[in-house]
Amino acid sequence: MTEDPSERATLDEQLEAAWRGLAAAVTDARHEWHLPIVASVGPDGRPEARTVVLRSVVPEDRTVSFHTDRRSPKVGEIEASGRLAWVFYERSSKVQVRIHGATSVHCEDDVADAGWARTTLSSRRCYLAPHPPSTVLDDWHCNLPDGLHSSQPGVAESEAGRRNFAVVRTRVDQLERLELHHDGHLRGRWKWDADGGSTADWLAP
Ligand SMILES: Cc1cc2nc3c(=O)[nH]c(=O)nc-3n(C[C@H](O)[C@H](O)[C@H](O)COP(=O)(O)O)c2cc1C
Repeated sequence: MTEDPSERATLDEQLEAAWRGLAAAVTDARHEWHLPIVASVGPDGRPEARTVVLRSVVPEDRTVSFHTDRRSPKVGEIEASGRLAWVFYERSSKVQVRIHGATSVHCEDDVADAGWARTTLSSRRCYLAPHPPSTVLDDWHCNLPDGLHSSQPGVAESEAGRRNFAVVRTRVDQLERLELHHDGHLRGRWKWDADGGSTADWLAP
């Protein structure tokens, strides 16, 4: 990494690049940031992490979201702690983005309605699953409705999944970006507080 500051991306430019990449990853299924890892903490303090599909990014509001089955145990955990951590990594650019923020689960409101309206019929099959996610099964079951193992539901049939659908949305209050270079990494961190204040710092990589 060059020692000359004029040849290095500024903190502002790096933050803008992070939001631009996140927004692009929503619709680009080949973008590696399309499949972030989301980590929560259970009531007993046990961390849990899982892959999800990035479903929306609104840089102006600093929000990111994914969809899930509201019957899933993680929904209660997220509601109890009110926070999530997200991690994104893209191999080609060697950029990692880590996000923290207050997190809400939307089941019955406009946010959920808008998310549901954007789902495909194929993905609506997941919300028609007969068993709540994480149920212990007597034997293997694909947890898709009978008759829909390899086909998608019609619009009317798919609507039964709406009651199981939730949007999990994080309002970012901390974002960290790490860009790897063989001659010196770049690492920046941005924080936003509830009063509208913000900080931007270089961190030791
Ligand atoms: C590529 C991929 C994408 C996934 N996307 C989602 C998703 O968007 N929402 C979701 O709830 N689970 C998704 N899952 C499943 C989760 O990783 C996880 O297995 C499931 O939600 C159960 O997690 P839990 O036990 O923490 O509730 C995805 C898994 C993979 C491998």
